[in-house]
Amino acid sequence: MANIYAVILAAGQGTRMKSKLYKVLHPVCGKPMVEHVIDQISGLHTEQIVTIVGHGAEKVKAQLQDRSAYALQEEQLGTAHAVVQAESMLGGKEGITLVVCGDTPLIQTSTMEALVKHHEETDAKATILTAHAEKPDGYGRIIRGEDGSVSRIVEHKDASETERAVKEINTGTYCFDNKSLFDALKNVSNENVQGEYYLPDVIEILKAAGETISAYQTDSFDETLGVNDRVALSEAERLMRARINERHMRAGVTIVDPQNTYIGPDVSIGSDTIVHPGTMLSGHTTIGEDCTIGPNSEIQHCEVGNQTVIRQSAAFDSRIGSNVNIGPFAHIRPQSTLADEVKIGNFVEVKKAVFGKGSKASHLSYIGDAEVGSDVNIGCGTITVNYDGKNKFLTTIEDGAFIGCNSNLVAPVTVKKGAYVAAGSTITDEVPEESMAIARARQVNKENYVQKIFPKND
Ligand code: UD1
Ligand code: CA
Repeated sequence: MANIYAVILAAGQGTRMKSKLYKVLHPVCGKPMVEHVIDQISGLHTEQIVTIVGHGAEKVKAQLQDRSAYALQEEQLGTAHAVVQAESMLGGKEGITLVVCGDTPLIQTSTMEALVKHHEETDAKATILTAHAEKPDGYGRIIRGEDGSVSRIVEHKDASETERAVKEINTGTYCFDNKSLFDALKNVSNENVQGEYYLPDVIEILKAAGETISAYQTDSFDETLGVNDRVALSEAERLMRARINERHMRAGVTIVDPQNTYIGPDVSIGSDTIVHPGTMLSGHTTIGEDCTIGPNSEIQHCEVGNQTVIRQSAAFDSRIGSNVNIGPFAHIRPQSTLADEVKIGNFVEVKKAVFGKGSKASHLSYIGDAEVGSDVNIGCGTITVNYDGKNKFLTTIEDGAFIGCNSNLVAPVTVKKGAYVAAGSTITDEVPEESMAIARARQVNKENYVQKIFPKND
């Protein structure tokens, strides 16, 4: 197989998005469009990927980092002009150059592979990826000659009524013989409605030079959706969501209502896990087997073991073990680690805390900046008083300790192994092993006090 080079067009302004955020950085299922494109191109084993950047160049580079080389298009004079910017990097190379738009986030490796294969089999100098569109408005149309071969591409704005009736569209993905591409680009003019240098004009130029032009039509228009505005963005989101959810379901995950389940592209889920509606799983989240997640849960950048239940809760940047039970209405904040068999019940907030195996905080607690051993029971309403207004301090609760309800643990403080804290205590000093600390005022009963303040007349 020939060497493959790839060019991603990502310098355009994205005016139709009406956004401060640069178009190709708009996320689809949580990941910038251009990154979806580069993920899929990476599956092709290319020699080099060159991304054309312009508007927001620094931000795009910061996003893609060393996954691509970059060429700067200072002024956005059109898609042909954009590709010309890669000439100093690719101009002399022998091989195939694949050109993909940074605003087609649904394109897949397999389709690009099929395109390259067709290009090679037909011995063409240029092969266009085309699709049938029920509503082709806005796309370039594929104009074929009487013999059925492609003669040129006409942009929607330049097309006549008859040409606009054509439903075969240019998806914006092509492969070219590299040298033919850069030769033809020299002859592209900007005499058209938009006054731009159009990449699709290369087709007519090569055709006129007697070269073979091929078209490979994909039967999936969805995959080639170009996102130019927010309406198309939401459509891309819907299609990507359906694709991701289907992949998990085929791999043995039950998704009760796929239309109301939002899973990012880099999430992995083990088989027989059930995901209930209203759940958002994002970032690099890994969920094990046989878990129950949701309804209405948000989990971001977490690692979750097997047989864990997370209901109506939020968890971020944390590690959660197996057979853990979370929620409803719990909040696991970053840098927390919950070992196996931990229980975090309703209205419990955990922040930067480690819970050892089998420990429980079942109701209404704040446990932050804490190291909790194993088999610890934290009673309802317990608070780690971790902040003095300036600094954060650590609370340590050792194995087997029992913290009575409504206790304040004023950090830095340690409750040693097997110790008890009586309900309602405010603990400021270390509690020794196996001891019980009571730190509250003694109860005083004032006999007949009510009689005294509210005397009855008779
Ligand atoms: C383009 C094609 C059209 C095709 C459609 C598929 C042209 C002239 N038209 O139209 O035939 O049906 O894609 O989605 O190519 N860009 C640059 N520099 C520029 C201009 C654009 O890098 O000077 C980039 C944009 O960032 C974008 C891509 O090229 O990622 C396509 O540009 P866009 O303006 O979206 O072209 P369309 O009008 O969608
Ligand atoms: Ca576009």
